[in-house]
Amino acid sequence: MLGNFEYCNPTRLYFGKGALDNLQGELKKYGENILLVYGGGSIKKNGIYDKIIEILNAAGKNVFEVGGVMPNPTVEKLYEGCKAARDNKTDLILAVGGGSVCDYSKAVSVSAHCEADPWEKYYLKMEDVDNQIIPVGCVLTMVGTGSEMNGGAVITNHETKLKIGHVFGENVFPKFAVLNPEYTYTLPKYQMVAGIYDIMNHITEQYFSGTDDNTSDYLAEGLLKSLIHSSRIAVKDPENYEARSNIMWTATWALNTLIAKGKSTDWMVHMIGQAVGAYTDATHGMTLSAVSMAYYRYIMQYGMEKFRRFAINVWDVSPDGKTGEQIAAEGLDRMESYMKELGLAMHLRDIGVTEDMIDGIADATLSMSGGYKELSRDEIIQILRKSM
Ligand code: NZQ
Ligand code: ZN
Repeated sequence: MLGNFEYCNPTRLYFGKGALDNLQGELKKYGENILLVYGGGSIKKNGIYDKIIEILNAAGKNVFEVGGVMPNPTVEKLYEGCKAARDNKTDLILAVGGGSVCDYSKAVSVSAHCEADPWEKYYLKMEDVDNQIIPVGCVLTMVGTGSEMNGGAVITNHETKLKIGHVFGENVFPKFAVLNPEYTYTLPKYQMVAGIYDIMNHITEQYFSGTDDNTSDYLAEGLLKSLIHSSRIAVKDPENYEARSNIMWTATWALNTLIAKGKSTDWMVHMIGQAVGAYTDATHGMTLSAVSMAYYRYIMQYGMEKFRRFAINVWDVSPDGKTGEQIAAEGLDRMESYMKELGLAMHLRDIGVTEDMIDGIADATLSMSGGYKELSRDEIIQILRKSM
C-alpha cells in the first residue's frame, strides 16, 4: 500500500431474508414525499412492489412513481425523473430494482435541483454537484453493479451514441440499501450470469494495475474465489440461498471503493464495454464478457507478474516446470472456460455488433491510463476485431 488515501463509506446496508423489515425505520428519517423508482415491471410480477407499497402506506407517506426505467437508462428518462422529483417536492427517492434503477435514482437525485443541463454538466464536463441532493435509498433486486453502495450513475445518450458513467462522491452514495438475496431468484439466467461477470470484471479492473504488495489485491483474490465457487453452484441451482447470498455480498464489495484503495485501477474493459453498449444497448455484463478475453490476452505481456499471480492464486494453476508466461496464459484459459461454462456472450457479434460499428465504437471509447498499458485507437480496434 504505497499510496495515500482516504476511506469512508456512508451507506447503511441491511442484508438477509428479513432485510426489508428495516425499511420502516429508515423511512422515519425522511419527509413525507417519496418518489418510488422502478424498472420495466419485474417488481410487480414478483410481488416486491406490493410489499413496498404496503410499508410506505403504513408509514403514512405520499407516494409518487417513476416506473419504466429501462436497462441502460437514457438521458430523456433522466429529464422525466427530474421533473417528477421537483413537481412532487421529493424528500426521498426509493429505488427498487437493479443497477439501472439505482444509478438512475442517483442521477435524478443530483439533477432535479440542478440549473444547468445535467447531461452536459455531469457527463460531458464531469463537474461536481453544487446544488441540493435528494437522498436515495435502494431495495436491490439484481446483483452485479455495486450501485447499492457506490456513487456510480451511468446514463446513455442514444442520439450522440455515448454511454457515460459519473462516479459521484460519498454525498451521492445511497443512504441505505436493502439486500435480500431471495429477491434475485426471479432474475432470468441471462441477467444472473451477466451480473456475475460484471462482478468478476469489477474486481479484475482494479486488480490488474500496479506492482506493489497491496492488501487490496489479496482482498480481490478472496472475493474472486468466493464468486467463482458460488456462481458455479447458482447456475445449476438458482434458488440456493447460500450461493446467491455470497454472490450478492461479493458484488457489493467488488465496487464500493474498498478494493480500489492504493490502486491506480484499469477500467478499460468497462470503457470498451460502455462504448459497445452505446451502439447496441446490450446487457452491461455481456458487453464486458465479449471483449474481456481479447483485452486480457493482449495486455498480459505488459503486466506479466500480476497475470502469473492471478493464475496461481485465483485459478489454481500449478506453476511447476512452467515459465511465467505459460502460467499466466493457462490462468486466462481457465477463466475463459469458466466464462463459457456460465453461458456468457463471448463474441461481440452475439450481442448485436456489426463490422461497420467498429470505428464508431473505438471513437466512443475513452482510453484510460491506470492499467498496464494505455491503449491507442489502433489497439482498441484490434481488440474489437479479435472480439467479433
Ligand atoms: O426493468 P425490470 O422489469 O425490473 O427488469 C430488469 C431488467 O430488465 C431485470 N430484473 C432486475 N431485477 C429482477 C429482474 N427481473 C426479474 N427479477 C428480478 N428480481 O433485469 C434487467 C436488467 O436490470 P438492470 O438494472 O439494467 O441490470 P444491472 O444491475 O446490471 O444494471 C446495469 C446498469 O448499471 C450500470 C450499467 O452500465 C447499466 O447501465 N453500471 C453501474 C455501475 C455503478 N453504479 O457503479 C457500474 C457498472 O459497471 C455498470 O456500468
Ligand atoms: Zn460493470
